[in-house]
Amino acid sequence: MNRIAVFASGTGSNAGKLMEHFVHHPQWSVALLATNNPSCGATQFAEDFGVPVYSFIVEDFEADEVLHRLQKEQIDAIVLAGFMRKIPSSLISLYKDRILNLHPALLPKFGGKGMFGMNVHRAVIETGETESGITIHLVNEVYDEGEIIAQFKVPVKEDMSPEELAKEVRKLEHKYYPQIVEEYLMSHAR
Ligand code: GRF
Repeated sequence: MNRIAVFASGTGSNAGKLMEHFVHHPQWSVALLATNNPSCGATQFAEDFGVPVYSFIVEDFEADEVLHRLQKEQIDAIVLAGFMRKIPSSLISLYKDRILNLHPALLPKFGGKGMFGMNVHRAVIETGETESGITIHLVNEVYDEGEIIAQFKVPVKEDMSPEELAKEVRKLEHKYYPQIVEEYLMSHAR
């Protein structure tokens, strides 16, 4: 069985969808939820799906403690689901092409510093975009600039509020993230 570590810091709805998706998968399992926020919603999903939780402090992350734990747990791939910290370069090189992220807009637009949560949807609407969506991409050294694996779009209707847009984007995330992660991992088996 290949082992995925899901990293999450927040509500964890996507972490929950990933756990649900892989629960009966014959080749890949979510073997760990890693979080810098042990009281986040993602830990509740981990409990529901019997996924062990590893919570760490930011200093451990930077000191490669997290990396050692992932190695000890024989983790094969990392899937970020609302994880709010920058991934250290040591982890990126160890898991080259094996760290995936989900972004709530169509990169390369609306990415980078400060572009998270409702900020993204507000910016999309303020700029007068006619469409938004989600981007599933690999994580490299530069925030939101790793190779794009898949994008899915949603129209931005006239007078749509950022909250309404967020809801539509969230639907795409839940529908496609687990499926695309699976397809990617299956076709890039080592
Ligand atoms: C999602 O919108 C995702 O695109 C972004 O963080 C959010 C996480 O939401 N990276 P949730 O915690 O999974 O509900």
